[in-house]
Amino acid sequence: MQKRVYIETYGCQMNEHDSEQILRLLEGSHYLETKEAKEADLILINTCSVREKPEHKVYSALGRFKKFKEEKGTIIGVAGCVAQQEGEKLLDRIPYLDMVIGTYAIPLIPQLLKKVEASRQKVCETSFDLEGNYLETPLPKRHMAKVKSYVTIMQGCDHFCSFCIVPYVRGRERSRSSKEIIEEVRHLVQMGVKEVCLLGQNVNGYGKGLEGELSFPELLQHIDEIDGIERIRFTTSHPSDLSQELIQAFGKLNKLCEHIHLPFQSGSNKVLKAMHRGYTRESYLEKVYRLREICPTIAITADVIVGFPGEGEGDFSETLELMKEVQFDDLFSFKYSPRKGTRAYQFQNEVEEKVKQERLSLLQKFQREVTLKKNQALEGHREEILVEGHSKQSDRDITGRTRSNKVVNFEGDLNLIGKLVPVHIIKAYPHSLRGQLVRSN
Ligand code: SAH
Ligand code: SF4
Ligand code: F3S
Repeated sequence: MQKRVYIETYGCQMNEHDSEQILRLLEGSHYLETKEAKEADLILINTCSVREKPEHKVYSALGRFKKFKEEKGTIIGVAGCVAQQEGEKLLDRIPYLDMVIGTYAIPLIPQLLKKVEASRQKVCETSFDLEGNYLETPLPKRHMAKVKSYVTIMQGCDHFCSFCIVPYVRGRERSRSSKEIIEEVRHLVQMGVKEVCLLGQNVNGYGKGLEGELSFPELLQHIDEIDGIERIRFTTSHPSDLSQELIQAFGKLNKLCEHIHLPFQSGSNKVLKAMHRGYTRESYLEKVYRLREICPTIAITADVIVGFPGEGEGDFSETLELMKEVQFDDLFSFKYSPRKGTRAYQFQNEVEEKVKQERLSLLQKFQREVTLKKNQALEGHREEILVEGHSKQSDRDITGRTRSNKVVNFEGDLNLIGKLVPVHIIKAYPHSLRGQLVRSN
């Protein structure tokens, strides 16, 4: 019998990608996706615990879904990083919860679900010691694909930045074999995919521990040679692991798009040290200069944290100074959020909430201006756009991205979806660009 699954996803691209994988796995258990929670026989929440805010979303979502359980016995499960972190405690805390699925247990979902369906038994799987976690278990292949697709190349993180929960909830760095990655990309090409984004918490650590495996720049080169792939992206890179070879890849590989996400977290060496980031403001800037030397048009985006314990006014000014110096294309900025189990959780010299908020507002105001300026610099230029679909703003418009990852909306026909087209940029907005299709006659 056909059943329905509703899935809600928080957190990073890894989680978005995991949710896609879960949906494909569940097709084999006769579950099709619904966008309406009330129609679902199974509700899954794929969660993030990187900061307090996304973690809290889980509990409010569960509150919203409780009534479906009461009314029609909907099965409810929590997957992802909060599931990994809390484990059995979640089942104790939420009496109407049926499933807790840790970050390594994704391939086990059909099995776990069967148990719940058969006996209404509650299940929890959060071991890191599972045979055949999803890096080794081939998941069902896509039979339908979009214009662009994520491809997981590694999992986990070994960096243990003092503020960050990720190494605890995603485990140590582990890479997938390059043979499988390349096969997956080939398959995606056959399905019509034009752009791949290689995913991992620290893609530059790719290959570590796998004897004779390709390095990350070599992997990029192999993918660049695959016919039919038009664009390659990757995320995320850690600045200390950003090798000279990878920087050079931006000058060498035609399909590698001119964009890098390179979180810096702070502009103060004192704070960087306390964060255990393993680089200095000077060495970060050095990498930025080298990237721009090799690839002058490269767009650089980053993550930054304000209000890390012990961050004084001077440290914060250094963060702003670094932003002034680099002129990021875009920035994701966060107030420090203490995470139990991390080293920084023990740090005493907390920054007051009010100060954190002021710093965040100041930093965001500064960045908004830079982002707009960066977008305005493209006015009058011709850009190659990969058309992704309908624009949300208007029925007449289609939307796509520049190689530098900026969103461009323009009038055009839906049959251009999946095509690379030249577009003249006519107007810049804070979060997107307006363009005009360049007709070929
Ligand atoms: N692997 C990626 C980051 C993953 S987490 C990397 O190292 O680049 C995404 C972002 O969340 C981080 O870059 C950081 O800016 C932010 N973040 C992580 N832990 C945080 C915390 N405890 N408080 C506030 N922001 C945090
Ligand atoms: Fe977290 Fe640092 Fe690893 Fe990124 S590199 S996931 S911030 S521990
Ligand atoms: Fe969040 Fe887990 Fe990603 S904590 S940022 S969903 S790896």
